[in-house]
Amino acid sequence: MTNKEKIKLLEEKTQEALIGGGKEKIESQHKKGKLTARERVELLLDKGSFQELGMFVTHRSSDFGLDQQKILGDGVVTGYGTIKNRLVYVFSQDFTVFGGSLAEAYAEKIVKIMDLAMKNGAPVIGLNDSGGARIQEGVVSLGGYADIFYRNTLASGVIPQLSAIMGPCAGGAVYSPAITDFNFMVENTSYMFVTGPNVVKTVTHEQVSSEDLGGAHTHASKSGVAHFTAANEVETLEQIKKIFDYIPQNCEEQPPEFPYTTADEIRPCLNDVIPENPNQPYDMRDVICNVIDTKSFHEVHKDYAENIVVGFAHLAGKSIGIVANQPAYLAGVLDINSSKKAARFVRFCDAFNIPLLVFEDVPGFLPGTDQEWNAIITNGAKLLYAFSEATVPRITVITRKAYGGAYDVMNSKHIGADINFAWPTAEIAVMGAKGAAEIIFRKEIMESDNKEAILKEKEDEYNQMFANPYIAAARGYVDEVIMPDQTRKRLIRAFKMLENKVDKLPKKKHGNIPL
Ligand code: HXC
Repeated sequence: MTNKEKIKLLEEKTQEALIGGGKEKIESQHKKGKLTARERVELLLDKGSFQELGMFVTHRSSDFGLDQQKILGDGVVTGYGTIKNRLVYVFSQDFTVFGGSLAEAYAEKIVKIMDLAMKNGAPVIGLNDSGGARIQEGVVSLGGYADIFYRNTLASGVIPQLSAIMGPCAGGAVYSPAITDFNFMVENTSYMFVTGPNVVKTVTHEQVSSEDLGGAHTHASKSGVAHFTAANEVETLEQIKKIFDYIPQNCEEQPPEFPYTTADEIRPCLNDVIPENPNQPYDMRDVICNVIDTKSFHEVHKDYAENIVVGFAHLAGKSIGIVANQPAYLAGVLDINSSKKAARFVRFCDAFNIPLLVFEDVPGFLPGTDQEWNAIITNGAKLLYAFSEATVPRITVITRKAYGGAYDVMNSKHIGADINFAWPTAEIAVMGAKGAAEIIFRKEIMESDNKEAILKEKEDEYNQMFANPYIAAARGYVDEVIMPDQTRKRLIRAFKMLENKVDKLPKKKHGNIPL
């Protein structure tokens, strides 16, 4: 073979690899409203930045006629490139090749880029679109999955790991996304489940569609498995890129910084946010958006456990993670799902050097058999544990209620918060006035001829004493009672003061978070 012929051979092989499972399968993919693995990579990464690795990898199996079907790349496109000029590693499953099913050589390609990502300290993005384990390859497919899960676990907290679900993701395939930090799902064309509708029907006799069982809406609102959803693949890929405005490359680095203006540090509208009636709701997002840099809030888990709001933002150009009770939903009560949602977010921020800002207006934990039997004790403790363990700068602003155990849990000074502010409207107490009066003055109320009047009187008395921030401030549990309109200014200064914070946990192998 002449050198010219050798070069031509490479060109031919490259063309063959680029076409994946062939034109027909690509058309079928497009007809379903889905892009191909390569189209997705092109849209995700900075133009022309993708560098492929393992284009000519093929499987080594001969069972079930597989030796007659060797496709270059073996069903997954892997490599590296940049997003906003930052190095990322990416794998993109190619449904046109054996339905994107994962097998030995395929898994090796993913493992290769994961190992490179760990050594070079850069995020890994997985674009999932696969029928699961390649059935013809048997146990080596299962081994391949486990090799990936193992690396997902070791990489957790070292480099950010992001998973987009852009087609089927069934069986054990769901466990890699489950370990990664954020899952993005495409509405109507993606689904995730451990067992599909047919198995569900056989085992539990439930009739359920793929969409209802494990579609984007289900996982975004019911299970919480999906952190972000979008109407189509292009928007999903944009969402992935957006998150890079807030996260660092790895646990040793700081998130990116952005320019901001200092002109509008005072926000007068915040003085009017809290309603006169303490039981009236308001939207905590109004507070958040009037404190952070304009339009910088990037909410995570928007449709799940809406009684707590979590998300990334910029404050004075720097990344912060926000955790905020939401009085507009279930009065902002803490329950199992909101505790889990917030705990996982706190741990992500802490792992990746993103300071935490908490807005607190919480009437306590949700009572009831459902909560108790499903372990609100253990699940509520997750949030307590996550805050207690976080060593990044941590600030709390109590806007209104800080009642009971929830006061402790929501980043109180006692569990390591650095600075706690309260608004003059804050009520820091064991419980609300009515409940408190009913318990401590029960005898008096019972014996009275005018129960309602005496209850009201005792309620007022309790309110007078405890429904304010000054007892906590007198003890230093609150560092400052601040005017709401000064919140942004105070937070910018406080986070600046905490910029070089060094805090370490006691030496240990690892803690035992109440899972
Ligand atoms: C090999 C597979 C495959 C698989 C699909 N294909 N899944 N080949 N192994 N797991 C092939 C099909 O044979 C077909 O090949 C092509 O991919 C496209 O599949 P279709 O069925 O035509 O596509 P569609 O109708 O869109 O259905 C997609 C699907 C379905 C829902 C994913 O293919 C499906 O149910 N596949 C099986 C899913 C499954 O049970 N996987 C194993 C899960 S257990 P041709 O040549 O006809 O185009 C598992 C264990 C992992 O993953 C455990 C790790 C711990």
